[in-house]
Amino acid sequence: MPTAKLILDDTTVELPVIVGTEGERAIDIRKLRTQTGYITYDPGLANTGSCQSSITFIDGEAGVLRYRGYAIEDLVEHSSFVEVCYLLIYGELPTRAQLEQFQDRLTHHSLLHEDMKKFFEGYPPSAHPMSVLSAMVASLSTYYPDSTDPEITELNMIRLLAKLKTIAAFSYKKSIGQPYIYPRNDLSYTADFLHMMFAVPSEPYEVPPLFEKVLDVLLILHADHEQNCSTSTVRMVGSSGADLFASISAGISALSGPLHGGANQAVIQMLEAIRKDGGNYQKYIEKAKDPNDPFRLMGFGHRVYKNFDPRARLIKKLVDQVFNEMGINDPLLEIAQKLEEAALKDEYFIERKLYPNIDFYSGILYRAMGIPTNMYTVLFAMGRLPGWIAQWKEMREDPHTRIYRPRQIYQGATHRPYVPLDQRG
Ligand code: SDX
Repeated sequence: MPTAKLILDDTTVELPVIVGTEGERAIDIRKLRTQTGYITYDPGLANTGSCQSSITFIDGEAGVLRYRGYAIEDLVEHSSFVEVCYLLIYGELPTRAQLEQFQDRLTHHSLLHEDMKKFFEGYPPSAHPMSVLSAMVASLSTYYPDSTDPEITELNMIRLLAKLKTIAAFSYKKSIGQPYIYPRNDLSYTADFLHMMFAVPSEPYEVPPLFEKVLDVLLILHADHEQNCSTSTVRMVGSSGADLFASISAGISALSGPLHGGANQAVIQMLEAIRKDGGNYQKYIEKAKDPNDPFRLMGFGHRVYKNFDPRARLIKKLVDQVFNEMGINDPLLEIAQKLEEAALKDEYFIERKLYPNIDFYSGILYRAMGIPTNMYTVLFAMGRLPGWIAQWKEMREDPHTRIYRPRQIYQGATHRPYVPLDQRG
């Protein structure tokens, strides 16, 4: 077993090295503090492994992404979102019978308890659907309490996968003052969501097959991504023993931030601003490079990918396919393409290995499908849900799991006597 030697003051400690199945290496510092009194310091945990996992592998330098060993490119070409949900949660591709049973369970748990509709009444029409989603998911705990019975825990995973799309569609309908459209058992997972979003009671609505396929691929591409900010949040909250719904609700909140899942909405807002500014994309490249300007090129850069995000490549191919098939031209797409081309040639972005990430083009596709901008991150959450569930399940079942409780280096005032109020000047 390889080890790492650390020389601290006048002692040398030998620490075990953990090697992953893809050759990744980690120094096991679980005994560091007891052996040396030292801790490590790594804000943002960019160099710190929080767990060992068998769910998703990313090679950031090579631009590789695999779910349970299957390449994302193969899954996009051959699989479906429901099958990928099964793969992530149970670890293997399902047999036909397993897939049919899984799909049937999702279909028959897609209704919300009728009393939960009342929750929507309290939100203003302007409520951001990510805030509604996080609150509604947390509220599921009140109807489906946690249990030590593994069958109940599994049923709650099915309930959440089945009901999240209903909550998402209902929050959209509430925000535009239209009646809720209920789930339909004869539609696929993706078609059912689009139907709940866009159907109206007064006339039949046929989900365009192209949109059903495109959204299914987008959900596959978002399904998991190892220990990103929201997944780490799900694991951290779950590590205290909090139930599935509370843990996922926290993950939804973490995802809503513009540096994370909220970036897909921020990209479209950035492209709109550039369009309003006469299409002057070079000006925004310069703003992004200016250390004194807080502006970031949204949809660009990644903590792990120092090469093209493979998901961005696949989404870009999808954009070309959809826009050709539909014969649409969106001025924002043109701006995005020019922005990408200029940034990829610019030394600032090249030096920092900043490439388009999953959020750069996904909003363009959602826009082409008529999805409103404030729902983009909700769709990211719908896609990421099976990954969050799989990671929470793995954390719960891992005997090495301990409650997350990082240390710190204190830099505040050292001990000082209390000063009575009348002596404070
Ligand atoms: C997602 O982790 C995941 O896997 C996340 C995700 C998933 O599937 O779960 O992939 C989904 O969140 C994708 C990222 C979406 N966010 C954005 O597109 C927002 C814009 N991107 C940046 O904010 C940034 O790139 C992050 C947040 C994505 C990554 O931040 P890091 O790893 O902390 O990088 P950093 O801020 O330390 O940047 C390193 C350098 C800095 O310059 P210097 O201080 O060295 O001069 O690169 C610069 C940064 O200023 N930089 C950018 C930039 N991103 C980084 N400069 C301009 N525009 C950008 N977008």
